[in-house]
Amino acid sequence: MKLLLLLVTIGLCSAQYNPNTQSGRTSIVHLFEWKWVDIAAECERYLGPNGFGGVQISPPNENIVVTNPYRPWWERYQPISYKLCTRSGNEQQFRDMVTRCNNVGVYIYVDAIINHMCGSGGGAGTHSTCGSYFNAGSRDFPVPYSGLDFNDGKCRTGSGEIENYGDANQVRNCRLVGLLDLAMEKDYVRGKIAEYMNNLINIGVAGFRLDAAKHMWPGDLKAISDRLNNLNTKWFPAGARPFIFQEVIDLGGEAISANEYFGVGRVTEFKYGAKLGGVIRKWNGEKMAYLRNWGEGWGFMPNDRALVFVDNHDNQRGHGAGGASILTFWDARLYKMGVGFMLAHPYGFTRVMSSYRWSRNISNGKDQNDWIGPPTNSDGSIKSVPINADATCGDNWVCEHRWRQIKNMVIFRNVVNGQPFSNWWDNGSNQVAFGRGNKGFIVFNNDDRNVDVTLNTGLPPGTYCDVISGQKEDTICSGKEITVNNDRTAHFQISNTAEDPFVAIHVNAKL
Ligand SMILES: *[C@@H]1O[C@H](CO)[C@@H](O)[C@H](O)[C@H]1NC(C)=O
Ligand SMILES: *[C@@H]1O[C@H](CO)[C@@H](O)[C@H](O)[C@H]1NC(C)=O
Repeated sequence: MKLLLLLVTIGLCSAQYNPNTQSGRTSIVHLFEWKWVDIAAECERYLGPNGFGGVQISPPNENIVVTNPYRPWWERYQPISYKLCTRSGNEQQFRDMVTRCNNVGVYIYVDAIINHMCGSGGGAGTHSTCGSYFNAGSRDFPVPYSGLDFNDGKCRTGSGEIENYGDANQVRNCRLVGLLDLAMEKDYVRGKIAEYMNNLINIGVAGFRLDAAKHMWPGDLKAISDRLNNLNTKWFPAGARPFIFQEVIDLGGEAISANEYFGVGRVTEFKYGAKLGGVIRKWNGEKMAYLRNWGEGWGFMPNDRALVFVDNHDNQRGHGAGGASILTFWDARLYKMGVGFMLAHPYGFTRVMSSYRWSRNISNGKDQNDWIGPPTNSDGSIKSVPINADATCGDNWVCEHRWRQIKNMVIFRNVVNGQPFSNWWDNGSNQVAFGRGNKGFIVFNNDDRNVDVTLNTGLPPGTYCDVISGQKEDTICSGKEITVNNDRTAHFQISNTAEDPFVAIHVNAKL
């Protein structure tokens, strides 16, 4: 009886930290601003076959339509209602996407905007993606929410805005950049939010990213998460809880820290990309050799609470945290090394970014075009993602997740899942290597001279195909071949001028 109780308790406590991905699938990808019809197709033709565990989608609920500037990506972070109706698609298309992705074992994670509605200056009318009437001035939203449901009375700053991030009350009770802040201690508001999320759960989603979690009280989030249904048993085991990961930007030194949110779910570890970018860019004397104790050894949150990423939709364009050290597709060579390192390393649950290109205009240290929305047709609708003959994407969709090096490292992570961090080597500088037990091994050369070294890989003897310079196709390797000797050592040569100065081998790419 006691044992049973204990097991039940452990089950309840650990549930929302489990991404619910299918066994052997260890990463998700953020298909930022993609349409539901394109995501459904991508699940079937690419993500399922290549071992991706899931997709973080852009917010699916009705948002304000902003025309000045014209249709910025951030309009989707300004909800008008919880109807499933956005530039990404309508409810029927959403349901079809969830069903088709789930059916190929790729699960959907919703970016949930529950802290606030649109900006206080959003006006009144039907300029919303479903055409619903709202009035920001009178706090009238078709959820319905009224003036009673917002924090206007509770915020103690003169402007009603967050003025001081050193004051936790302001951060949580005042408006974030003008966004109308919901009174989440109200049972009614909690009920409406839970109703929205439960509708998504019943349709079949596997979990949620909680946007702006730092701006909500952890107790309110706990109360809402306790009201969530179990996942849909058509695809998930009975009793499975929705995965929760919370956007809390904590680079240290603020009134609110990530660990306040561990009771609700996982938390985004923003130190990860900021620090890794600094190391790979070799700023301030940072070296890859210092990555030997990467993870908790760097002051990051506990491994089983961390959601990690090299860049996200905010900090790839200078929003949010991390600053200029963040690696993105704009620095492709370094970016591939950064994502490769993340996917090879055991720390955290990993999310890969998939972006669109925009015309940057960096002046005064800021990208003046950081607002630009996804590729659109002349009527403002989002363009579909065309797939080229070489499997890359067209029309300014970057599709980092389809880059061979990144896709193959997503597979690498699946292959080495559960294996220990092992056989670390470094040259005291920016040449480093490590393995994952006897399943995989990776070597980086981020220095200005060649790597020419024999290392203990831990892998069974044989000939392996490097999945960075190429990949195993049937019995052929389209890239470098690496021979592991009977004593498990292998010789690695990596030019510092190679297109991709790193090599990765794993047991599923053995020839
Ligand atoms: C870039 O931004 C600056 C500052 O806003 C502006 O003066 C300039 O015209 C912009 N350039 C382009 C090419 O858009
Ligand atoms: C490691 O590589 C760096 C850069 O190429 C070089 O300066 C350094 O001497 C190497 N260190 C060792 C111990 O070989």
